[in-house]
Amino acid sequence: MRIPVDLGVYGEYLHYGMPLTLVTVLEDDGSVNVTTIASITPLPGEPSRLVMGILAENYTSQLVEKRGEFVVNLITPEMRSIARVCGIYSGKEADKMTICDLHPHPAQYVQAPLLEECPLNIECQVEHVLRVEELYLFISKILVLEVAPELADGRGGVQVDKLHLLFYAFGNTFASGPLIGHEPL
Ligand SMILES: Cc1cc2nc3c(=O)[nH]c(=O)nc-3n(C[C@H](O)[C@H](O)[C@H](O)COP(=O)(O)O)c2cc1C
Repeated sequence: MRIPVDLGVYGEYLHYGMPLTLVTVLEDDGSVNVTTIASITPLPGEPSRLVMGILAENYTSQLVEKRGEFVVNLITPEMRSIARVCGIYSGKEADKMTICDLHPHPAQYVQAPLLEECPLNIECQVEHVLRVEELYLFISKILVLEVAPELADGRGGVQVDKLHLLFYAFGNTFASGPLIGHEPL
């Protein structure tokens, strides 16, 4: 037996467990907008791609469509309150980089900066834009995935057992738990 979950309870955000991110994108005047985004999924195949879902009303969707590039910055549990601020205010009315005291770091391939505070950063170039009613889907090539030096494993990989990410599920936030398997599934 299964009990149907009332989708209305979760409104626009039916996320059953994904890492929370801060997406950075350049504005027209060269400043940086940063926004909380949960709807990002890496895609299988070559080259590496991800898809990001952003509502049309959000400034970020307009900026990403215009610039064709952005950075996905994965966040730690300690950054929960920053994710809250960046997920409430719009870059149209607030300078979220300054309010949250976030530090930009030059990216390798895109003009939008990485966030120093974040352990993993993904530089992306938009390949396809799909508009589904009020939702934009940005299917994007991953140009590079970068990791903080203390989390690199020295062989081109990531020390996943040391990686602590903030997850978002059914409106709640979780810290990633202990590593339970080293082998690929
Ligand atoms: C936990 C959380 C997850 C969010 N995920 C998304 C998302 O996946 N897509 C989206 O369009 N908005 C998402 N939002 C909402 C935007 O972050 C919010 O509307 C923000 O104010 C938009 O800022 P902007 O106008 O500067 O782009 C999320 C907010 C929170 C708090």
